[in-house]
Amino acid sequence: MSTVIDRVSGRGYNHRVEMKSEPKPGILFTRQEIETTVRRLAAEISQDYPGKHPLLVGILKGSFMFMADLIRLLDFPLEVEFINLSSYGRGRESSGRVKVVQGLRTQVKGRHVLVIEDIVDTGLTTAFLLDYLRKRKPASLRLCTLTDKPSRRQVPVAIDYLGFTVPDKFIVGYGLDRDEEFRNLPDICTLKDE
Ligand code: PRP
Repeated sequence: MSTVIDRVSGRGYNHRVEMKSEPKPGILFTRQEIETTVRRLAAEISQDYPGKHPLLVGILKGSFMFMADLIRLLDFPLEVEFINLSSYGRGRESSGRVKVVQGLRTQVKGRHVLVIEDIVDTGLTTAFLLDYLRKRKPASLRLCTLTDKPSRRQVPVAIDYLGFTVPDKFIVGYGLDRDEEFRNLPDICTLKDE
């Protein structure tokens, strides 16, 4: 059955989308909480990187919104690069295989590299990328993730800068999708009727 969801958050945000099932996004972290957390992360990063001209590597697609907000709060020279990795395809469970959809176009050898991720779930995506980057001999390599879901971890991942720890629920919004939907929600939401 097809259902139209309208005014999902009740906070003045209109989202209108045709859904095959009937998931109703409920807010887990508000846009204000996200902003506060991104400011905190930017402050932490700002203690460590000025003068190092770091290369921030965002993992597409999920990290694009976080990256955009984060770098506007970093008041020192840096470079931005993206790599497009995918392991979920159109499903909700990781396929277990990480695909490089589009690789890096910047040399990382000798650079101070900071990976920017939206979520560490099983850890397969970030573990893959950290290994991929480490082989290219950066001067330093760290990970900043907005959210972490440790209950689902399959491989260990060391997180240097962490925004939120999230419960074992599928989350969407602020760049995160379910079957490519919901990335544009300004809050981080769970899909309540799962
Ligand atoms: C999502 C998310 C992370 C990854 C985390 O990406 O953006 O990159 O999964 O999951 P993991 O820790 O289990 O590997 P996805 O493959 O869905 O692609 P997308 O970013 O384009 O949505």
